[in-house]
Amino acid sequence: MSIETLRKVHPWPTFKPLPHAIANLERGNVKKGLKNTPPLLKDKKEPVIVEMGSEFGGSARLFIDTLDNPTVICLDAWTYRTHGWDKSLRGITENKQYGMLAVFTHLCRNHKDNIICIRGDRLTGLKEVHKHEIKPDLVYVDCIHKYIHVLKDLELAQSLFPKTILCGDDWRMNHPSERFGVQRAVKEFAAKHGFTFIVYDNQYVINR
Ligand SMILES: C[S@@+](CC[C@H](N)C(=O)[O-])C[C@H]1O[C@@H](n2cnc3c(N)ncnc32)[C@H](O)[C@@H]1O
Repeated sequence: MSIETLRKVHPWPTFKPLPHAIANLERGNVKKGLKNTPPLLKDKKEPVIVEMGSEFGGSARLFIDTLDNPTVICLDAWTYRTHGWDKSLRGITENKQYGMLAVFTHLCRNHKDNIICIRGDRLTGLKEVHKHEIKPDLVYVDCIHKYIHVLKDLELAQSLFPKTILCGDDWRMNHPSERFGVQRAVKEFAAKHGFTFIVYDNQYVINR
């Protein structure tokens, strides 16, 4: 069991070519900083990163462009929904022949040798990584930015991979339905395990 066995189970998905207007898009969610996360692995050769919530692969591409030949295991449900922030993708993301995953694979096509995508629930995906006896160097939590979900993501990552660097996004998330849920989860998780954490801009890194 290894990265290669996981890759065999989850080969790069293929879709028919995207319509011209969409295929010319070179964006996706490339806005993410992660400015302080790649340096954590800067001396590591061929690091393995698990991203819980990959969307259109903006951060996955940043990891790959910044680090030494990493493997990024991207976990995402990649459903057929439309993002509020990018209505122009609606025709593709809601189309059952494509969906979010088609946009992800299109935008990440030049990085595909460094990516394994596991479609489905991120907790199930994380357990599958563990089953393949992979010990990631870093788990990046960027999925559902609500207290209970972030806490679950961190706790599962902690129990499966106790030595892995844990970090995540959207520290400043302050949804009207839940005030600062990410912060509450990270603080509670850190206190429970006796860890400290550092916040860089909108990202946090757990020290343990
Ligand atoms: C904030 S986006 C990820 C952004 C990405 N990390 C980046 O930096 O470009 C969150 C993603 O989580 C995914 N997601 C939401 N709930 C999920 C679940 N239960 N299991 C797996 N993925 C889920 C969504 O499909 C969405 O793509």
